[in-house]
Parts: sequence; C-alpha cells; structure tokens
Amino acid sequence: MAVNLRNRNLISLKHHTPEEIMYLINLATDLKNKKRAGIKGNLLDRKNVALIFEKPSTRTRCAFTVAAIDEGGHPEYLGKNDIQLGHKEDVADTARVLGRMFDGIEFRGFSQKVVEDLAKYAGVPVWNGLTDDYHPTQVLADFMTVRENFGHLKGIKFVFIGDGRNNVANSLMIGAAKMGMHFVTCAPKELFPSKELVAECKKIAEECESGATIEITDDPKAAVKGADVIYTDVWASMGEEAKAEERKKLLKPYQVNMKLIKATGNDNVIFLHCLPAVKGNEVTEEVFESRYARQFDEAENRMHTIKAVMVASIGNL
Ligand code: CP
Ligand code: NVA
Repeated sequence: MAVNLRNRNLISLKHHTPEEIMYLINLATDLKNKKRAGIKGNLLDRKNVALIFEKPSTRTRCAFTVAAIDEGGHPEYLGKNDIQLGHKEDVADTARVLGRMFDGIEFRGFSQKVVEDLAKYAGVPVWNGLTDDYHPTQVLADFMTVRENFGHLKGIKFVFIGDGRNNVANSLMIGAAKMGMHFVTCAPKELFPSKELVAECKKIAEECESGATIEITDDPKAAVKGADVIYTDVWASMGEEAKAEERKKLLKPYQVNMKLIKATGNDNVIFLHCLPAVKGNEVTEEVFESRYARQFDEAENRMHTIKAVMVASIGNL
C-alpha cells in the first residue's frame, strides 16, 4: 500500500512503520536534491506553522524555519516567555487555540506528556522537536546521513555511546529496531536505558521482522568492534546542568577518542553527533575534526528531513 502520512503527528517514532520512516528519508533526499538544483518550492504555500520552544535550539528551530520558508510556508517562533502556555494557560486550551490558526505545531520542551496532549487537542499535526524522553526528528536526519554514507540502513552496526538513557539514545534505539540495524547502547550501568524501553524495542524488531538486534553493554571496547557508526551526545542534557560534574566522572571512559575509533577495526566507520557538542567531554577535538566525522552533513539533513515531515503531513502534495 502507498504510504500516506497526511495529518499525521510525529511524537516518538513508535507509531511510524519502517515503510513510513523510509518514505520520509526518501522524500527528504528528493527535497535536498531539489534545493541543490535551486528549485523554489510551493509545497507549504499558505501553510502556517507554530514553533513552540521551551528549551533553546539552534538546529531544530532553524531547520523548521528554513524548511517552511523554502516551500512557501510561514513559521512563527513562540519562545517560552512569548506565549501564555505554562504561565496563564494550560496545554489543552493552547492546543485548541493554535489549532484554529495554524496548520501544524512543533513543540520542544521538557515533558513528553505536553507534546502528546498538544496532539490530542490541537486537531492539526504536532511534531516533537525534542522532549526529555525522545527526539524523533533528529533520528530521521541521522538515518538519512547513514544512508548517504552506506547506501542502506539494514544490517548497519550502530553504536550509541554515552548517556544511554537520554532522549536521543532512546529515539535512536526505537528507529534502529524498526529499520533492522544492529544497535548497541554503551553506557555505565547507572545510565542504561529503561528496561521497559529495551523490551519494547526488542518487540518492535520482532513484530516488524526487521532483523534488528538490540544490545546494552558497559564495555566500550567490545561495543565498538566492527561498528559502522559511532554516535555520541552531550553527557548532561538540557535541564540536567546540575549533574554535569557527576556525569563527567561517570562517563570519562566512554569518551569518543581516536583510540575508540581505531578499536572498531573499521576504517570506513563514521562518527555522528546530534550537536551541540562539548568537545573534550563526549568527543575529542581530534575525532570531531577527523575524516570520520559527518556531524555537519547530519546537521544539514535536519532541515531536509524536517521539511519532509511537514510536507508529508500538511503539504500541497
Ligand atoms: N540537534 C539538535 O536538536 O540541536 P538544537 O538543540 O540546536 O536544535
Ligand atoms: N540530549 C541533548 C540533545 C540536544 C539536541 C539534550 O537534550 O540536551
């Protein structure tokens, strides 16, 4: 059956099938080629999108803004002190008001429940631009970058090393389970992903018959052996600033340095990072600037994939 994502939310990736995820990556690739060819689009002509940000952002905010404008849409940035949400107005009322005016709503913030409630009440598509639990639009860009480098996703050994229970690690595990990757989370035991999510991802792999495997380990050297992708993220996410020093001690053995890259035994391994990076913590300057690094292709792909998400759900296709 042809994929149809019209009016669909993007809340966590859990509700998207492998075919739908691949459709978004293919559409993003077409849109990237279109932009490179200098073709001005009108797929979001007369579409207004609300961009709610409780937490700061460079890539996600700019990706939604540029993507909307590229295709003739209008993005409206609503920072945490600009609107009544969280101060004078609750989520359900904000959602119903914005849903009367906008064609789609992006939300970045703390609580996953808020993005789910926005989706419940808005009556227009809601896209999760990062919560404490998940970062689904990031994973679309990450997988697009993997495909650009290897030509496929199935069978790729993808190692996330660092804070194994953060939003990015969680969403990567869900996506990898759907797309048939060999996914490894490598973290100290204190920062392992929740048992519930690991079990859910294993079940997803089984149900999708994707061939994915999910492994959780605290041994960096063993984890990276044969890896195609080494991925890391900050050791203390937004909202966890008070934990920064404690994490530094805990995560020091999990730093992505040249020794770890070499321990893959794969000279074609690529390094990814959702950014922003704290160089000297989760990754060394040497790896960040090395020939293995693809984080800026990945950052650019945020824009193409986010454009695909909007075009697929509200665009004039
Ligand atoms: N990767 C990412 O989401 O970056 P921003 O926090 O800058 O949006
Ligand atoms: N885990 C990071 C991702 C930033 C894009 C954070 O939540 O701060």
